[in-house]
Amino acid sequence: MKIDLWFATPVYHHDASEAEAGMIQSSVAQMLDTEYKEILSRDDAKSRSYIQSRHLEHRQVLHKYQLDELHHWLTQHCGGFIKKLHPDAKALEIRESWLNFYFPGDSQEVHHHMHPTSPSFISGSLYLEAEPNSGDIKFYHPAFGASGYQSSQGLETFEASYAPKPNRLVLFRSHVPHGVMQNRSDKVRISLSFNVYIQD
Ligand SMILES: [Fe+2]
Repeated sequence: MKIDLWFATPVYHHDASEAEAGMIQSSVAQMLDTEYKEILSRDDAKSRSYIQSRHLEHRQVLHKYQLDELHHWLTQHCGGFIKKLHPDAKALEIRESWLNFYFPGDSQEVHHHMHPTSPSFISGSLYLEAEPNSGDIKFYHPAFGASGYQSSQGLETFEASYAPKPNRLVLFRSHVPHGVMQNRSDKVRISLSFNVYIQD
């Protein structure tokens, strides 16, 4: 028997080394409180099942707080992933970056990051604060449901989960549906999310 496995749904993940974790945490230390309070002052802060703002100034945290070292580090990882996915890509740009705050009980519905006018190529989450059981990110087969059958095991497994952990980076193609399971810890779960565009 020979089975060819095509059309993979790649997910990149990396747990920061101790030195990298130090850089990440010192980069974000000053902005977490500020950004949280500013987001809460906006009218759309609680329009979802978790705290996030879609106002433009909250979608540019890497630039807004001049997190150059973290920006560079993320760009390196995104570049490594994109090189495997699309070797002809000439340039990449992290164009949106924002914070998400999940309090105990919070979750996020299944969604993707394909903006109708300018679809990004990959998206990512860097977990900044995440206790055990604070809500896995769960990916679904991009065509899940379309075949009429869903298997949780075997070659056609239609879902895959990654547990959040401080300083863990997860990258994925922007069209891949994903959701965040309920935060069952007693602490807030904080992630930095971003969209990456390429020039090809
Ligand atoms: Fe997302």
